[in-house]
Amino acid sequence: MSVNRVHARIAGTGSYLPGEPITNDDLVARGIKTSDEWIFARTGIRARHLAESGVSASDLAVRAAQQALAAAGRAPDDIDLIIVATSTPDYIFPSTASLVQARLGIGNGGAAFDVQAVCCGFVYALNIAEKFIRTGANQRALVIGAEVFSRILDWNDRGTCVLFGDGAGAVVLEAADRPGLLASVLHADGSHHGILCVPGQIAGGRVTGDPFLRMDGQAVFRFAVKVLSEVAGEVMTAAGVSAASVDWLVPHQANIRIIQSTAKKLGLAMDKVVAMVDRHGNTSAASIPLALDHAVRSGQIQPGQRVLVEGVGGGFTWGAALFDF
Ligand code: UT7
Repeated sequence: MSVNRVHARIAGTGSYLPGEPITNDDLVARGIKTSDEWIFARTGIRARHLAESGVSASDLAVRAAQQALAAAGRAPDDIDLIIVATSTPDYIFPSTASLVQARLGIGNGGAAFDVQAVCCGFVYALNIAEKFIRTGANQRALVIGAEVFSRILDWNDRGTCVLFGDGAGAVVLEAADRPGLLASVLHADGSHHGILCVPGQIAGGRVTGDPFLRMDGQAVFRFAVKVLSEVAGEVMTAAGVSAASVDWLVPHQANIRIIQSTAKKLGLAMDKVVAMVDRHGNTSAASIPLALDHAVRSGQIQPGQRVLVEGVGGGFTWGAALFDF
């Protein structure tokens, strides 16, 4: 067998949102000085889900993973690699992926680790998992984005707390004799670390500094619009395909205006774009697999169709992947 001929395909998707939706009006009722009108006009967000106290990223990840396994027709022990993209892990260590492995009852000694690339984390994790599979080192991966961003929000900062939510999404990526993933690209530029960050640290057993998400919204907006259209073009060039052959764009779900602007630059009509930001806000690394799973389960994305996913997040990190579903 020539391992170089091994491709990687998505065999199943899953997702999980905790609890009932919390609407913009619910936030107003909780005392946040905002309005449904402001939030919806600037972001397209109508609601988000917030995990109850005691519910962690691994809890959400396990639910999404179980759905993805069922969709792929696979048992937990068929998985020999777990990558969880998260910036809100259960613990400093062990990794959330190790906890997911144990909770799923996987005892085969496969690899498990976390990836931290914030809102681009799922694209990073997918890219990494593909490489493990294409070398022949692993057969079948769970690639998960899971976040409890509500834990790092300053509920007194209306400029950020209304934007984010909690959730998880997952895919089973497995070895196949046809693609699958056609191309993927990753980028980072750490010189922009200050415009979106959680600057706190752990020292001497205590959090020092500021443990909440801080963002220069307008700088992030400009950066996101620029790199998302660039990286979409780059991944299509890498795969040797044109925008006309792309059936669906599944972008990071942060802001409908960023999504619309990216689609316009690519010449894609909005009916080819999966937009779920109204229902769950920005769930960081979970947002792409959540939207992907929704589009698959609702029958929008059909087997054989071509899908472009792309993300941008703190770091700054950005990337895209193109695959045939
Ligand atoms: O994964 C990447 C994650 N980040 C993003 O995608 C964020 C990208 N940036 C954005 O989406 C936009 O910059 C925001 C939606 C965050 C903010 O929109 P903006 O048009 O850039 O607003 P702004 O920050 O310039 O604030 C405009 C006004 C200010 O009032 P004044 O100074 O003009 O009186 C804010 O105090 O809106 C006020 N404001 C709010 N008002 C009601 C800020 N937050 C709120 C709020 N409700 N939640």
